[in-house]
Amino acid sequence: MYSTLLFLHSLGRWAVLCGLLYGMGRAYRGWRGHLPFTTHDNTTRHTVATVAHVQLMLGYALYITSPLLRDFHLRDAVHEPGTLFFGLQHVAAMTVAIIVLTVGSALAKRQSTSPTKFRTMALWFTAALLLILLAIPWPFSPLASRPYFRLPH
Ligand code: HEM
Repeated sequence: MYSTLLFLHSLGRWAVLCGLLYGMGRAYRGWRGHLPFTTHDNTTRHTVATVAHVQLMLGYALYITSPLLRDFHLRDAVHEPGTLFFGLQHVAAMTVAIIVLTVGSALAKRQSTSPTKFRTMALWFTAALLLILLAIPWPFSPLASRPYFRLPH
């Protein structure tokens, strides 16, 4: 159960990043190019938010099952940077990032013109992407280092 969740969550990062980059690409292109906001743009907006929500759910399931966070207590974790990262910083930053993405997606949907839809989507998705990039445990991260890809076992 745990190793399957870890594998899916590790892979899910790429789905979220690719989705966000694609969504931002369409949003900036539409905003700058004064294009109409099409059904495809709307599906992209919605799909990116859904993929991020699945990753959020996987993250919470991992939080509950991870042996790393068994008996997690903030007071003790302050002295263990790896545990503190996953038990607090990663969870908090990713949850905020996905709230930002969701608010941006909902606001974009409610705008009445194509340029404002694209602009809202572009700016909020960019803010979410920056937070996510900062909170991913990249192999080169000084906070917590994890592989780019994890195989199932
Ligand atoms: C866009 C959102 C998120 C992304 C891109 C993301 C990405 C990642 C990545 C790449 C790892 C390392 C996986 C590995 O070791 O191969 C990880 C680990 C972890 N994530 Fe997330 N995460 C996100 C959201 C969350 C959330 C919302 C939670 C909890 C509420 C969470 C909890 C965890 C935990 C507990 C681990 C460590 C598991 C372990 O090593 O036992 N993640 N995350």
